[in-house]
Amino acid sequence: MATALCPGSFDPVTNGHLDIIERTARHFDDVIVAVIRNPQKTQSLFTLEERQEMLASELAHLKNVRIEFFKGLLVEFAKERGAESIVKGLRAVSDFDYELQMAQMNQKLSGIDTFFISTSPQYSFLSSSLVREVARFGGDVTGMVPPSIQTRLEERFAELHAAQAAEGQAGDRE
Ligand code: PNS
Repeated sequence: MATALCPGSFDPVTNGHLDIIERTARHFDDVIVAVIRNPQKTQSLFTLEERQEMLASELAHLKNVRIEFFKGLLVEFAKERGAESIVKGLRAVSDFDYELQMAQMNQKLSGIDTFFISTSPQYSFLSSSLVREVARFGGDVTGMVPPSIQTRLEERFAELHAAQAAEGQAGDRE
């Protein structure tokens, strides 16, 4: 049974991620979407549980895909789960240097190979960080994330903006 890991932060999952995961699921028996418990990115927009929920609902149609969290080295998690492969999407040449370096380091550490899938052209400009930035300032992210995630983004930024406005008013009164 061939198991692959699709790792990432998924804050939030984009249509680009979903495309890569769906295509990975066609080539492997078992796919684990490995969500990093990222200590260095403490300012996540969505909690781990929210990210898992969003991934689970968007990937429910893929019976060979499951979602798990990991911390520490990805290759240690891969070994624990018996995964022989890591699969990543490559959007552009700019991704290549760092991805190649990580793939080689992971190979050296564990013997686990990384396979790259070329991102579908319509998603080649997409990243979670840009989606967050556009949504933060009220831009339209239609087609970049699924509709339910678009709604969650709007709700989350409305909450954050309301909290900031309330803080500002409290500051004015002090
Ligand atoms: O979605 P992201 O933030 O680009 O995902 C990055 C991720 C999680 C794939 C990468 O940071 C990772 O694999 N981190 C785990 C720590 C690790 O194994 N580091 C050594 C890599 S050579």
